[in-house]
Amino acid sequence: MSGGPPIGQGLSAPNGSPVEAGAGARAADTQVQAARPGPPPQSAPAGGPGPPLWLLLELTYRCPLHCVYCYNPTELASSAAELPTADWIRVLGEARALGAVQLGLSGGEPLVRDDLETIVGAAHGLGYYINLITSGVGMTETRIRALKAAGLDHIQLSFQDSTRELNDFLSSTHTFELKAKVAALIRRYDYPMVLNVVLHRLNIDHVDEILGMAEAMGAQYVELANTQYYGWAWLNREQLLPSRAQLERAEAATQRFRERVGGRMQIYFVVPDYFETRPKACMSGLGSVFLAVAPDGTAMPCHAARMLPGLDLPNVRESGIRAIWYDSPAFNRFRGEAWMKEPCRSCPERSRDFGGCRCQAYLLTGDADNADPVCDLSPHHALVTAAVARAERAAAAGAPAAQGAAGVAREHVLHFRDHRTSIPVVAGEPVTRR
Ligand code: SF4
Ligand code: FES
Repeated sequence: MSGGPPIGQGLSAPNGSPVEAGAGARAADTQVQAARPGPPPQSAPAGGPGPPLWLLLELTYRCPLHCVYCYNPTELASSAAELPTADWIRVLGEARALGAVQLGLSGGEPLVRDDLETIVGAAHGLGYYINLITSGVGMTETRIRALKAAGLDHIQLSFQDSTRELNDFLSSTHTFELKAKVAALIRRYDYPMVLNVVLHRLNIDHVDEILGMAEAMGAQYVELANTQYYGWAWLNREQLLPSRAQLERAEAATQRFRERVGGRMQIYFVVPDYFETRPKACMSGLGSVFLAVAPDGTAMPCHAARMLPGLDLPNVRESGIRAIWYDSPAFNRFRGEAWMKEPCRSCPERSRDFGGCRCQAYLLTGDADNADPVCDLSPHHALVTAAVARAERAAAAGAPAAQGAAGVAREHVLHFRDHRTSIPVVAGEPVTRR
């Protein structure tokens, strides 16, 4: 995939996630959609967390695209077999019985699963609001008709750029025209037109053109989601982090565009958190409302949690969703505040941001219990400002955005997401390997 969780999820989440999707929470219309009526939810244990309102099924890590900012694990080569259809449907039923209402179907590219329509039909029957997060590759008129008939509510389509050259370079495919055709299909089948473009140093100077493309396609919602640095994006951070000047130009261009189009298009610009002084309330706190299931059945409190050391993630092949959500050590590990270290432990803002993102804390500091270093109260905040300073130097040197795709390829090492590759993510500074 390439993107992130979908618009409307009501969470603060990483982007660049499977299927170049969006950034989640701070973006978009963040209300959890009302599901159709279903069975009354099972009661939650007294004093425990509420139900997993938002369920994300990463149906597969297979993907025809090779996005440089994908948040799927960088060790794809070692992932186990995908769950069969019956297991996905069982998970849907168990989560719905707990009270889950909003469903994201992601990957990888979920359209590579030929049981997608069956899974959508089962979810619709259970009353979920269903959002497909897709690169568009694999979507045909036959499939969109079948998905509509099965009850799919919403499609989020990703682009890498407004130009064929960069779109195809960043995904290492020839998919630009195909995506444009899928955008037309989405409109023809009466879905809201929701586009997602993950921004980074290589395309952020094209925001005007990206918005122009979205307008020409009849987009009603556009999510410009600055890359957050997990998975493959972490490996490529030195090549992808924009400069502050780039960011400011992009925000100004977005604002001018908003003023011109008025209410015709809603545009969500998700600022990269490296430029903030307070972290995002990632996942609204781990184990609070979000439950993801990886293709092999691993259940996770966030998309990137596989990397966190010592987190013994349960698997839906062996445990029911109720036991996973309420009782598993992994889902309880970061609930509440007892795990927090200073400065979060005594910080008056801890109930607002929950100390930020655990995965970012781990990647940057090597300890998932630390404050997210995006916070300027963190003793590790200099790790973030140093990364930004390197991005400023790269921009000042005119590389690589000004050089175009070919220049990037020649001058910089980019790791393209590839199923045949296994690159362990190592906490600390990302190392560019040749
Ligand atoms: Fe949030 Fe921790 Fe920073 Fe306080 S110190 S603002 S709780 S990250
Ligand atoms: Fe933020 Fe994992 S991505 S906690």
